[in-house]
Amino acid sequence: MNILQINSSARREASHSTRLANRMVARLGDTDPAATLKVRDLNNTPHPILDEAALGALFTPAEQRTAEQAARVALDDALIAEIQAAEVVVLGVPMYNFGVPAPLKNWIAAISRAGVTFRYTEKGPEGLLKGKKVYVALTRGGKYRNTPADTQVPYLKTVFTFLGLTDVHFVYAEGLSMGSDAEQSAIDSAYEQIEEAVAA
Ligand SMILES: Cc1cc2nc3c(=O)[nH]c(=O)nc-3n(C[C@H](O)[C@H](O)[C@H](O)COP(=O)(O)O)c2cc1C
Repeated sequence: MNILQINSSARREASHSTRLANRMVARLGDTDPAATLKVRDLNNTPHPILDEAALGALFTPAEQRTAEQAARVALDDALIAEIQAAEVVVLGVPMYNFGVPAPLKNWIAAISRAGVTFRYTEKGPEGLLKGKKVYVALTRGGKYRNTPADTQVPYLKTVFTFLGLTDVHFVYAEGLSMGSDAEQSAIDSAYEQIEEAVAA
């Protein structure tokens, strides 16, 4: 299997979400020794925001783009090619201010391309990134699972479904800021959830 790992924490070595994503990838690799891995760390390689210049580039026909516009579109093309090539996508996603980290939002904006990763039909939108498995390792300082304050899961489910990614599995590590015992128990629980996800 081809695995694409997306890390979105601002932290590197200390990131729980990246560690959990690493663990998920390692366990998936145990089930398929031929698995390949592409890691995109959104903080090591920041992706530009979707500003007016980027929108202008995207909405200009390819043959009419300036060199600068072509280069901007090519940055998004590279991220789209990565997810198109992947059979499995593993994301590490911290909760920042009740949402997803801004670099992850930029990544989602980059891979959401009309006519390429989704299209509108007479019956409504159709996602074109089909047949992939998605695993999301969520890390939070507090505990928000299944509450209205958890905007991450509904948002990610909606956007992934829109893109055709319907097989999405969430792993939660919550209460990471609630003391060392709570932190350890959150990590232990997340490891168990990873085992369940890999076995499912
Ligand atoms: C800027 C910032 C904002 C945060 N906002 C929230 C929040 O809204 N809710 C929450 O439960 N935890 C919040 N946290 C705590 C993180 O979700 C928690 O530390 C998590 O482990 C970070 O992921 P990481 O370990 O992969 O870096 C925030 C942390 C930072 C640094």
